Amino acid sequence: MKLYNLKDHTEQVSFAQAVQQGLGKNQGLFFPQLLPKFTASEIDSLLKLDFVTRSAKILSAFIGNEINDDDLLRLVGNAFQFPAPVKAVTDDIGTLELYHGPTLAFKDFGGRFMAQALVQVAADKQITILTATSGDTGAAVAHAFYHLPNIRVVILYPEGKISPLQEKLFCTLGDNIHTIAIKSDFDACQSLVKQAFDDEELKTKIGLNSANSINISRLLAQICYYFEAYAQLTPKQREQLVISVPSGNFGDLTAGLLAKTMGLPIKRFIAATNANDTVPRYLDTGKWQPHQTVATLSNAMDVSQPNNWPRIEEIYRRESWVLSSLAHGAVSDDETKVAVQELDAQGYLSEPHGAIAYRVLRDQLQDGEYGLFLGTAHPAKFKEVVEAILHKTIPLPEALAARENMTLLSHHMPNDFAQLRDFLLALHW
Ligand SMILES: Cc1ncc(COP(=O)(O)O)c(C=O)c1O
Repeated sequence: MKLYNLKDHTEQVSFAQAVQQGLGKNQGLFFPQLLPKFTASEIDSLLKLDFVTRSAKILSAFIGNEINDDDLLRLVGNAFQFPAPVKAVTDDIGTLELYHGPTLAFKDFGGRFMAQALVQVAADKQITILTATSGDTGAAVAHAFYHLPNIRVVILYPEGKISPLQEKLFCTLGDNIHTIAIKSDFDACQSLVKQAFDDEELKTKIGLNSANSINISRLLAQICYYFEAYAQLTPKQREQLVISVPSGNFGDLTAGLLAKTMGLPIKRFIAATNANDTVPRYLDTGKWQPHQTVATLSNAMDVSQPNNWPRIEEIYRRESWVLSSLAHGAVSDDETKVAVQELDAQGYLSEPHGAIAYRVLRDQLQDGEYGLFLGTAHPAKFKEVVEAILHKTIPLPEALAARENMTLLSHHMPNDFAQLRDFLLALHW
């Protein structure tokens, strides 16, 4: 597989390089040189396969001979160990539940495949993944790399500023997962990570690598669940399928559009955002004018400069699609609350991110169409918010309940790079 840097097309890398490097020069995103296509009959055959076998074939179409088919099947099998079921919500709307993995969010698909791919392409190299989290990414990364050989993970998070349940989810694992509560805020954690990456000596000594969210391996993995959704629909539902994607950094939507470029017959995508509506305004006016990011109930989508957007523009350019045909909508917090209540009244327990996608979908769905919205997180992950909206108690799923009373294993540190450096150098394999 060859990929080019969107900021400098002369920088070209293999899949192995893209996975290990994350970003190209000038922070440019990598994009596949070849967009593989399946014929209608190939798609039909793919849809008959089970999730893991089908996903390995989809990924192989991109990755090519850099990973052989048997290895790829094993990696996908290790990564995708949980289902992505479509549940009916109304007669013409369903949801694709992407939150049945260990950290209860769609990030488990991309994170776990990236971990498997990294171990595969890095061969026997020892790697230290250093990352900062405000809660959710840390959990997905920690669980994805847990117990993997030759890899250790160090996660920095702001002490007292993530929810107690989020902390329990990834700070109780031990083994190759090291967590450090920094006596400061998330920005300080991120800046410590940056300082570490600027320290060439440290980088080489400990084999520093990032588990960056814009890593191409994550995106490719996410393509697979759009096929999985389609495979579960009836022929009638497939005829005019509209998919609404709750969007923040626009990775999920990028993956959906890539599924369409491969030939999956999706009539229309909807980009659904919260009040951080840079993209909906851009699609309406043609002007890219990010505002200051505002805090909303769907906090994981509080992004005003979505970092995957250049990939979406590139897909439209390469496929000669018209960007204005991308359906879109922005939803306020009040509308989000109403959407969560409306879904609950229909017997479906949701949370703010999925509810935003539902709201725009139900506003825009036309007669004869079937709509799917992505359920990107388990409602219990946003327990406090959902309980306040619905005035009822949300039970904890097993993954959270099992860790609720475990002891936290985190180290504690001031916001001091010298101390972090010493800590990293003192880690033993
Ligand atoms: C629960 C949830 N929903 C939706 C999103 C948005 O996904 P994307 O950033 O790929 O647009 C995120 C992103 O972090 C998320 O955590």
